[in-house]
Amino acid sequence: MATFRTLLVVDDEEPIRHLLTVFLTGYGYEVRAVEDGARALAELRTRDYDVVLSDVRMPRLGGLELLAEALRLHPDLTFVAMSAYGSHDAAIAAVKAGAYDYVSKPFKPDEILLVLQKAEERERLRRENRRLRSELARDYRLDGIVGGSEAMAEVLRQVRKVAPLKTTVLLGGESGTGKELVARALHELSPRASLPFVAVNCGAIPAELVESELFGHVKGAFTDASRDKRGLVAEADGGTLFLDEIGELPQPLQVKLLRFLQEGEIRRVGDTRSEPVDVRVVAASARDLGRAVELGQFRQDLFYRLNVLGIRLPPLRERPGDVEALAHHFLSRYAPLRPDAAVTGFTPEALEALRAWRWPGNVRELEHAVERAVVLCEGGRIREDDLPDRLREAQREPAPLRADPETLSVKKAGRALEEQLIRRALEKTGGNRTRAAELLELSYRALLYKIKEYGIEA
Ligand SMILES: Nc1ncnc2c1ncn2[C@@H]1O[C@H](COP(=O)(O)OP(=O)(O)OP(=O)(O)O)[C@@H](O)[C@H]1O
Ligand SMILES: [Mg+2]
Repeated sequence: MATFRTLLVVDDEEPIRHLLTVFLTGYGYEVRAVEDGARALAELRTRDYDVVLSDVRMPRLGGLELLAEALRLHPDLTFVAMSAYGSHDAAIAAVKAGAYDYVSKPFKPDEILLVLQKAEERERLRRENRRLRSELARDYRLDGIVGGSEAMAEVLRQVRKVAPLKTTVLLGGESGTGKELVARALHELSPRASLPFVAVNCGAIPAELVESELFGHVKGAFTDASRDKRGLVAEADGGTLFLDEIGELPQPLQVKLLRFLQEGEIRRVGDTRSEPVDVRVVAASARDLGRAVELGQFRQDLFYRLNVLGIRLPPLRERPGDVEALAHHFLSRYAPLRPDAAVTGFTPEALEALRAWRWPGNVRELEHAVERAVVLCEGGRIREDDLPDRLREAQREPAPLRADPETLSVKKAGRALEEQLIRRALEKTGGNRTRAAELLELSYRALLYKIKEYGIEA
């Protein structure tokens, strides 16, 4: 099963073009050969190629410029540089700039074949990875909620389970972790989905207006009440009432809310009669409500009544595995802002910077960082430079080694640490595997094996 079929050879020397064409065609590749970078670009613009095998030093458009432009057109392209005696530095620069590998001239055709086979294996793993990831995403994706991590999977399991019920749910979690998104999902997945979802930010309404906003009032109930008004609770009749920042609800209103939750009836300000209302209540608080109860700022009875079912949204730093999927999710949301730039992905350095950051503002902060990067991006892939300065500064200090906080498996954690150390050593040595092996105190062969095993890219 060949992953690679189409191959573009770029070299100004006719004998090399001939040799490679004959040789690689013999191995089943569809080969096309051109003599300079400008012609190669014209080819890449009209057809899809799996691999480009290009000399680094050529007249007109050189190999490095070709590489940059080719990756802009096809970010996943496998580019192999060929360097003659004296252009070794250019070959290394090419690898740094995103080429998969290089071979030095003169080479034996077998060497090229070996590089191609390795690249093909990498590509196969990459596709497999992508397939698995999208499968996972499909399993856990729920109305635009991204999360392949075990922590988010657990949240989504709970959401699915309680959504159809009328049970009150209390959502906890730091700012930006997705509480409102989950509240909406609870509504969308319930039999109430076609009826209203009414969101109320309890912290945003002036204390003296909260009662009439929530429960409504009758004409003449107070000075400004020139006519009857339905409250937000009544607006949500049949649907879901989302009480955001519930910890900010003034104490007297806490009593009234509790009465409503217990009796299922509301009474407008100034009215003597009560009317029944059927709403499902979902409340959220970024503050620790249990603590607010201890401090006497929140009523314990209301807390118990709301917290029938508590769901805590984990901070993003506790699920670093979700960062990449979220970044791609937001990229596809914001890329259309820049039809001119055809933004299709992130450079490996940019992804690394995203993974290394601690995200104090959680998913919202990540969303804004991606949106901003799309605006700044010069095209093709988002670079580290397009990300906020704070991320890049944090990058310069080595990130602490991390294992999945949810595993106690020594084997799994050990592998995760090993992979991070290898990546760090390769980064430090600019991809020099011999030097990296020394730093890691591994044999060269062991390092090559592990690089392949972990799917670490050049
Ligand atoms: N798992 C996720 N998948 C996709 N988008 C997410 C996810 N979590 C959060 N978001 C997005 O991040 C942003 C912030 O989420 P949300 O408003 O739900 O956070 P919050 O917990 O309510 O924050 P706050 O306490 O500050 O109000 C939203 O644009 C939301 O769509
Ligand atoms: Mg919110």
